[in-house]
Amino acid sequence: MILHKHEKQLLKELEKQEKAKIEELEMNPDSARRAAFWLAEKGLAIVEEKEDECFIKNEECERWSSKGFPEVRILKKDGESVAELTPEERIGLVWAKKNGWIEISEGKIKKIKDVSGYSLEEAAKNPKKASKEDLKVLIKRKLVVPQKSKEITVSITKAGRAEAKKITEISQEIGELTDEVIASGSWKNAQFRPYALAPTKDARIGKIHPLTRMVGKVKRVFMDMGFEEMEGNMVESAFWNFDALFQPQDHPARELADTFYLEGSEELPEPKLVEQVAKSHEEGWKYKWSPKEAKKRVLRTHTTVLSAQYLNKLKGTDAKKYFSVGRVFRNEAIDFKHLAEFHQIEGIVAWEGATFRDLLGLLKEFYRRFGFEKIRFRPSYFPYTEPSVEIEVYFEEREEWMELGGAGIFRPEMTKPLCDIYPVLAWGLSLERPMMLREDLKDIRTFYKNDLDWLRSSGVSHSEGFGRSGSDGNE
Ligand code: PHE
Repeated sequence: MILHKHEKQLLKELEKQEKAKIEELEMNPDSARRAAFWLAEKGLAIVEEKEDECFIKNEECERWSSKGFPEVRILKKDGESVAELTPEERIGLVWAKKNGWIEISEGKIKKIKDVSGYSLEEAAKNPKKASKEDLKVLIKRKLVVPQKSKEITVSITKAGRAEAKKITEISQEIGELTDEVIASGSWKNAQFRPYALAPTKDARIGKIHPLTRMVGKVKRVFMDMGFEEMEGNMVESAFWNFDALFQPQDHPARELADTFYLEGSEELPEPKLVEQVAKSHEEGWKYKWSPKEAKKRVLRTHTTVLSAQYLNKLKGTDAKKYFSVGRVFRNEAIDFKHLAEFHQIEGIVAWEGATFRDLLGLLKEFYRRFGFEKIRFRPSYFPYTEPSVEIEVYFEEREEWMELGGAGIFRPEMTKPLCDIYPVLAWGLSLERPMMLREDLKDIRTFYKNDLDWLRSSGVSHSEGFGRSGSDGNE
């Protein structure tokens, strides 16, 4: 039988004494009491509880029972003046007079009786043995307070005796395996306390926000596919956000209703690049390109600005694959479907050998790694791509096709001023939309509401991604 250290100790004690009061054992009374009840439960001991009365003495009572009660001490002041007495002596005076031991005449103490052996003093020393009358006085004088208590007696059973025989030594029990225990080697001869596993309810652990987890997962998938990450600013010039993407300056997307313009203006990049972009616009779209319009400061409306910037950094015709996951901003009226800021998943493959089919295959592979097997492409339009497609994914749960983003091959009018590579495959996808559908969210604002219930129940994890079944990009 596995016994606690204190249970063993108590059994050993009872083996000697048969029956004992808790207080009389050579053990800490709290440990002994607990051990007694545990042993009783195992049938190794019997616990008896008896109501008992005890008395709690106050400080005065303790003092007086050793140095004498003031009414006894006052007898020594026979003949002295009452006026000079201390407060404690005055108490003595009152009680001595009440007892008929003294009288007061002409302001002086006059002893009329000798006292030897004052029973109240004995009673104060041991209230349990005091007479009823003395006890009453002690209580009335607030020298003692009676209190009910429980007296616990333990005795050993036959089974307890047999068990006690088996205990040869009370070894130190180890409750925690610390480095010290391992290093010292004390574990070799020690006994380990068995685990008591208590079920816990609703243990809530901290977790990362579903959107952040999703961003991590997307990064992981692109890294696994050999892509490098693009990074940049959220505040950009209209030049990089629009002009470098061959988006004409009178394009409706550039209007205030769609784009957040900020105060101030941005510097234009090196003149050679600006000149080539201007030329491309003027030849392609047939209008007078304005540097002032290009200097305007905006919150980026798409992460495609990064693709333009990274293409511009390319040297020669070495192939490159880039991705980014970042926040973008649009001047939208906010409702259950629209936010003024959201995330885009961007990517490019700059490789002269690339084809349109590679683009479609890549996107298919990307979504497959999130557990979407059924995806389709529909013709679309962007000022900077030709051909352009819209990507749709089939949601089994809803039996619905959903649009998730755009893609295409960057037009040479856009890439020529930036780099020497053509074609460049490109795409920009929504992060929030597929998550909403997978999480069955009716309102896109939920992502930013700090709704604890939703955050706790959200199923998106690093390994799950968009797909509930958890197709992980690593297979
Ligand atoms: N920038 C586009 C958007 O924001 C997406 C896109 C990126 C389309 C790259 C084609 C190529 O919707």
